[in-house]
Amino acid sequence: MNLALENPKLLSLAAGFTDNGTLPVAAVQEAMTALVRSPGEPEYLQYGTNRGRPGLRRQLSQRLCHLEPELDPAQVNEGCFVTNGSQQALYLAMQVLCEPGDIVLVDRPSYFVYLEMLTALGVRALSLPVDSTGVIDGAALDALLAALVARGEGSRVKAVYFVSYFSNPSARSLGEGEKTVIANALAAAGLWVPAVEDAAYRELYFHQPHPAASILTLPAWERFPRLYLSTLTKPFATGLKIGFGVCTDADWLARMLHVKGHHDFGSANFNQAVLERVLADGGLESQLAFIRPTYERKMRALHEALEAEGLRSLAWEWKEPAGGLYLWLRGPRALDTGMASEFCRACIEAGVLYVPGDLCFGESPPRNFARLSFGVLGEADLREAARRFVGVARHFSEQSA
Ligand SMILES: Cc1ncc(COP(=O)(O)O)c(C=O)c1O
Repeated sequence: MNLALENPKLLSLAAGFTDNGTLPVAAVQEAMTALVRSPGEPEYLQYGTNRGRPGLRRQLSQRLCHLEPELDPAQVNEGCFVTNGSQQALYLAMQVLCEPGDIVLVDRPSYFVYLEMLTALGVRALSLPVDSTGVIDGAALDALLAALVARGEGSRVKAVYFVSYFSNPSARSLGEGEKTVIANALAAAGLWVPAVEDAAYRELYFHQPHPAASILTLPAWERFPRLYLSTLTKPFATGLKIGFGVCTDADWLARMLHVKGHHDFGSANFNQAVLERVLADGGLESQLAFIRPTYERKMRALHEALEAEGLRSLAWEWKEPAGGLYLWLRGPRALDTGMASEFCRACIEAGVLYVPGDLCFGESPPRNFARLSFGVLGEADLREAARRFVGVARHFSEQSA
C-alpha cells in the first residue's frame, strides 16, 4: 500500500479496500442530519459504552437471527459486542486466549493479517489440513490432532480460526459438513478449544448467500466456546470502522471487554449512532443491493481480462468466485511469487501490486499463489492491471521454457 501511495501509476490489486465510487455518502449524510436534528441532548457526541450502543447491538443481533432463524435474538444480543472493525475483535480474542508458544489451528490458506498477528503474539499457526481441492481433510485432521496430543502439545492448542464465507484470500466458503468435521475432530481429540468464525464477507455474495449455517447454529459446535465475528466495514463503509462479535462464553467475553476497556473504552459512539440509524432505515440492505452487482462486475472485469490475456495458457489456475473481494490464483508449481521473489519485483516494476500467497499460510507455505483484489480499482484499471500481471507471468513462463 505504501508503494501504491508513493507511485500513483502503480495499480494495486493488493489492498483489501472497498470501492470508493459506491461508498454510501447519501445514506451517511441522511443519518448524520437526522441525528443532529433529533431533539434532546447530543449523546451521540459523548462517550458511549464499552460494549457498544444497545440499539445497534439489538439490530445486529436481529439481522444475524434473520440469516440463521434458529438463533434466539435475546441470546445473541447477550453475547454481542461492538468493536473497531472485526480486526480489533480478532486481536482481543487472541490476546486473552494465547501466550507465546501456544498453537492456534487456522484454515489453509488463511487471512494473512491475522497470521501476522499470531506471529507477533509468539503464537504458532498450524493449518487445518485440506485435500487437493482445498476441502477440509477430516482423516488428516484426526491424525494431526492425535499427534499433537501424543506429543503433549494438546494443552498448547488455544483456539481454532477460520474465514468461512467468500474467504480472504481464497474466496472459498466452508460447507456445513466441513465445519462439522472440524468440530468432531476436536471433540474426538478432547480439545474443546474456543472457536473463532470470521464471517467478514458473508453478506458480500453476488447472487445468493452461502447456505451454510455458522458455528453458532451447527449442533457439533454446541459444547465449544464460540466467537462469531462480522463487520459493517466491507458491506457498508470501511471508514466508519465498526465491526462486531457474538460470543457464547460469558467469561471469554468479559475478558475481551476488559481489554477493550483498556484499548478505548468503547468504539466511536458517533459512528455507531450513524450506523444504528442506517440499519433502522434499511440503509444497509439498500447499500448491499447496490454494491453486490458492482463487485460482481468488477470481479468479471478482472477475471475475464486475465483469461483474455491468456493467463490460463501459462499454467495459472483460479476459480471464479461467487462473492467476496478476491481472486486466488495458483501459478505454475516452479514459480516463486513470494514477497522477496523476482516475480514480485517484476510486477512492481511493471506497475502492478498483488498479495504474495506465501503470506497466507500457517506453515510450509507454497510459493506459487497470488491474491488479487478487485475491490478498489475501476473496471478499466482492473483490465490494465490484469494486462500488466499477465505480461510478467508470460515473461517468466518464457524464461523457464
Ligand atoms: C477475513 C478478514 N477478517 C477481518 C478483517 C478485518 O476487517 P474490519 O476490521 O474492517 O472489520 C478483514 C479485513 O480485510 C478480513 O479480510
